[in-house]
Amino acid sequence: MSRDKSPRHSAAEQQSSDATEAQIAVHWPEEAYIPPPAPFIAHANLADPDVFERFSLDRFPECFKEFADVLDWYKYWETTFDASNPPFWRWFVGGRINACYNCVDRHLAAYRNKTAIHFVPESEDEAVQHVTYQELYVRVNEFAALLRDTFGLKAGDRVTLHLPMVAELPITMLACARLGVIHSQVFSGFSGVACADRILDSESRLLITMDAYWRGGKLIDHKEKADIAYTEAAGRGHTIENVLVWQRYPSRYSSPTALVEGRDVIVNDLLKTFRGKRVDPVQMPAEAPLFLMYTSGTTGRPKGCQHSTGGFLAYVAWTSKYIQDIHPEDVYWCMADIGWITGHSYIVYGPLALGASSVVYEGVPTWPDAGRPWRIAENLGVNIFHTSPTAIRALRRSGPDEPAKYNLRFKHMTTVGEPIEPEVWKWYLESVGKNKAVIVDTWWQTETGGFLCSTVPALHRMKPGSTGPGIPGIHPVIYDDNGNELERGCGKAGNICIRNPWPGAFQTIWKAPERYVKTYYARYCKDTKSKDWRDWPYMTGDGAVEAADGYFRILGRIDDVINVAGHRLGTKEIESAALLVPDVAEAAVVPVADEIKGKVPELYVSLKPGIEPAAEIAKRVSDQVVARIGAIARPHQVVIVPDMPKTRSGKIMRRVLAAISSHQDPGDVSTLANPEIVDTIKELNK
Ligand code: WT7
Repeated sequence: MSRDKSPRHSAAEQQSSDATEAQIAVHWPEEAYIPPPAPFIAHANLADPDVFERFSLDRFPECFKEFADVLDWYKYWETTFDASNPPFWRWFVGGRINACYNCVDRHLAAYRNKTAIHFVPESEDEAVQHVTYQELYVRVNEFAALLRDTFGLKAGDRVTLHLPMVAELPITMLACARLGVIHSQVFSGFSGVACADRILDSESRLLITMDAYWRGGKLIDHKEKADIAYTEAAGRGHTIENVLVWQRYPSRYSSPTALVEGRDVIVNDLLKTFRGKRVDPVQMPAEAPLFLMYTSGTTGRPKGCQHSTGGFLAYVAWTSKYIQDIHPEDVYWCMADIGWITGHSYIVYGPLALGASSVVYEGVPTWPDAGRPWRIAENLGVNIFHTSPTAIRALRRSGPDEPAKYNLRFKHMTTVGEPIEPEVWKWYLESVGKNKAVIVDTWWQTETGGFLCSTVPALHRMKPGSTGPGIPGIHPVIYDDNGNELERGCGKAGNICIRNPWPGAFQTIWKAPERYVKTYYARYCKDTKSKDWRDWPYMTGDGAVEAADGYFRILGRIDDVINVAGHRLGTKEIESAALLVPDVAEAAVVPVADEIKGKVPELYVSLKPGIEPAAEIAKRVSDQVVARIGAIARPHQVVIVPDMPKTRSGKIMRRVLAAISSHQDPGDVSTLANPEIVDTIKELNK
């Protein structure tokens, strides 16, 4: 891929009269290229165009050796890639490694006194904590000793973390990694019940939480959720041994929720008996799971994506170095939450594997005003900034002129999680990047461990609204619904898949290997008996178009998943929550466009016979969704309808509801079993 190649014709021009439904979604014209700034290219980690040759498909799989070489191994692997049991690929087989050692110990010689984690409390009155690599080493060791010696944790055990954005979260993850214990961090905004689902599925021995944390100016009682999680999980057959509670303010308990004697343990008290303790990192097989990360799918049950130690760490370290362009002297801030994959890969493991300084911010980006992120960046000297379109839209709306007030000096900025509108992209470059930064729009997923598509920042020109080509080593392909490959660069929409395996990919869905094969490989597998990886493209579940220049534009999910503020929510999860309200007979959720969050769920419910519609019922439904899943799933609106639009076979036509919600024409509804309902629903949702 050369950066001088011009697009022959735009995708917009290519749209012909036989446009499919997916193509209609392509409403952005192709944007003009913007070259990366020369000073960036001069200092970039990757400015050699040979990289594309080195990672061409005929160099697979040995090319990925270069990824693993970013790390320190106890024992070098024998087999780079083992395809003997497709699609359960194995990477760096025979190798032994420890993720914590690579993120902490190995940096001590050169960077002992360097900040590893800048913890920024939400309140501006509270001092920032700068945790050096030495301090991180001490704290991780002491906590690992506590987990091993008091609770008997050992390699392969699972532990659920329900921690907010505080330094103790990466410390806990790294302590687990040091022991080979598999951590499963649940986003702190998720409810206690959602936490229980993940405890049950992973059969975790412990729950590690915090008493309280700050969000939007309030000290939130978080321990309360641990009690709900414990009780719910116990009621459904799995009892956690202990609940470990970190204190937000050491030596003070900040939650109004009582501790349960014998079960709950204040970590900060117990840690006092582990002062000065050191734990040898456990030399784990490269293939050992490092963590589970749950994500939404088409059915109600979240999927526990199982990520490996060697392959995952190699993948995030390499991409952090060459796509994020992190140098050891950089101050890097990824404003995601560690409770999502972005935070695991690109706040904790990737940057720390490189010895960078990584910022962890506790609170809301726009708290107390839209200047907050820029003050943090200015005060810490952040020069690499990474966030989502949702955050950029919110900051732009509430303070378009704010960035101008600060001396921001970003050399590199990332957008991730959802498609970004070119207009928002341009504000990001001009106002936040002061026209001096390079921007990468990285497209990937919980399952993929790290980036799939992105421009290589010093080698490709940027194109607002497009993610870019596959990164080195990733070879995307677009299929139509019948499994035919679309011609490269044809500008037509289809289902984007990846031709080849890569080390960062998840290994399986925890305890559901059949679901793993079915969801990601069954549809486009060319021969289920084949041991050749070429027959097993990975299906991402996204629609996309490839323009003539090889840049991809992502159109969104093709499955029953709604992307809210860059996070996936399964329609089934939301609908099942609504059905917990006894008055509700049926529920259907659809995505509606939102200026800030991209998409938000809107919920339609019909009631059981004899129950009169009432605002109070709608409120109960909304509250139930929040209690079951978390505030992120709160419906924009709950519309009570007399009946759902249905096919003759009784299937709810969500597509018709989605059109009504977006005030668009639902098209021909004459084939419905109850076409008259469409006008009634339109009236109810004006
Ligand atoms: C889905 C994955 C990537 C980690 C955070 C979300 C959408 C992600 C982009 C992008 C357009 C994007 C896709 C993908 N998505 N990045 N740069 N442009 N869409 O992880 O919760 O697993 O969601 O987010 O639809 O499938 P996730």
